Amino acid sequence: MESLTTRINLNNGTAIPMFGYGTYKIKDQNEAYNSVRLALKNGYRHIDTAAFYENEKFVANAIKDFMEESQTKREDIFVTSKAWKTELGYDKTLAAFEKTMNEMQMDYLDLYLVHWPASYAFDDDWENTNRQTWKAMTEIYKSGRVKAIGVSNFLTHHLDTIIDMEVTPAVDQIEVNPGFLQKDTVDYCKEHGILVEAWSPLGRGKSLAHPLLEELANKYGRTVAQIILRWEVQHDIVPLPKSVNEDRIIQNANVFDFELSDDDMTAIDEIPPYGNSGHSPDQP
Ligand SMILES: NC(=O)c1ccc[n+]([C@@H]2O[C@H](COP(=O)([O-])OP(=O)(O)OC[C@H]3O[C@@H](n4cnc5c(N)ncnc54)[C@H](OP(=O)(O)O)[C@@H]3O)[C@@H](O)[C@H]2O)c1
Repeated sequence: MESLTTRINLNNGTAIPMFGYGTYKIKDQNEAYNSVRLALKNGYRHIDTAAFYENEKFVANAIKDFMEESQTKREDIFVTSKAWKTELGYDKTLAAFEKTMNEMQMDYLDLYLVHWPASYAFDDDWENTNRQTWKAMTEIYKSGRVKAIGVSNFLTHHLDTIIDMEVTPAVDQIEVNPGFLQKDTVDYCKEHGILVEAWSPLGRGKSLAHPLLEELANKYGRTVAQIILRWEVQHDIVPLPKSVNEDRIIQNANVFDFELSDDDMTAIDEIPPYGNSGHSPDQP
C-alpha cells in the first residue's frame, strides 16, 4: 500500500516521496523548527522550504536534529528549497544557491527550484532570463550539490522557454486546489515527464468550505482536507500541505487507505474556481 514514504521516480531517476510538508508563512523560528519536527515525527519525509520563507535555517536544524535523535539517514529525507524571483539570471541564481546552502548547512539538497519564472509582463528579455537562470540551475545540478532541479509557477509558455535545454526540469511546483487544476500545465508536464507538485493544496484553508466536498467527506467518512489531498494524490500530483497543528499534520497525511471513485474525481475536477490565490506568474 502507498504511504507517506512511498517514492516515485523523477525523470532523472531521483526518487521523491509522493506527499510532502509545506513551510510557507512559518517565519517564527521556534514554530518552524517545532512544526518540521512534528511532521518528521509523524512520518513525513519530504520537506519544502524556500529562501523567501526566511526559515531555511530552522527547517534544516529541525531535520538535522531529528536525523540524529531518530538515527534517520539523510537519504531518507527529501529536502527542497527555491531561488526567489529577485534572483533570476545566471549570476544571481548561482549566488542564491550559495546563500541557501550557507543557511541550511547541508551537504546537498534533493531538489532546488526556480521559485517564479521571468514573464513578458515585467521583463522585456524574459525568455533569455529564463534560459540564463536555467543554465545556472544546470550548473548547480552538475556540481552534484542537488539531486534534481526544477521550476515553480512555470506555465506552458514559461516552460517552452527552457524545454529544449540540456536538462529537462524534474518538477514544476504550481498552485493546485479544487477548482484550480491548471490542466494545461499539468498535461504539458505529463507529456514532458515533469512531476507536478501542488502548492496551497488546501487553498490555504479557503478550499475547505465547499458543499460538494463536504458531501464527499460525509460519504467517505473523511475530512474535507483529506478528500482534497486524496484527489491530488490520485492525479499523480504531490501535495505539500502546511500545518503547524499536530492533529492536522496527522490528519492530512492519512489519505492512503481510501480511494475516490472516477465519478467523484471528475466531479471535483469540474468544480468552478473558488479557493485559489489569484497569484499569476504573468503579473509583476
Ligand atoms: N512555489 C510557490 O510559489 C508556493 C506558494 C505557496 C506555497 N508553497 C508551498 O506549498 C505549501 C502549502 O501551501 P500553503 O501553505 O500556501 O497552503 P495550504 O497547505 O493549502 O494551507 C495551509 C493552511 O491550511 C490550514 N490547514 C492545514 N491543514 C488543515 C486541515 N486539515 N484542516 C483545516 N485547516 C488546515 C493551515 O493552518 P494551521 O497551520 O493552523 O493548521 C494553514 O492556514 C507551502 O507551505 C509552501 O511550502 C509554494
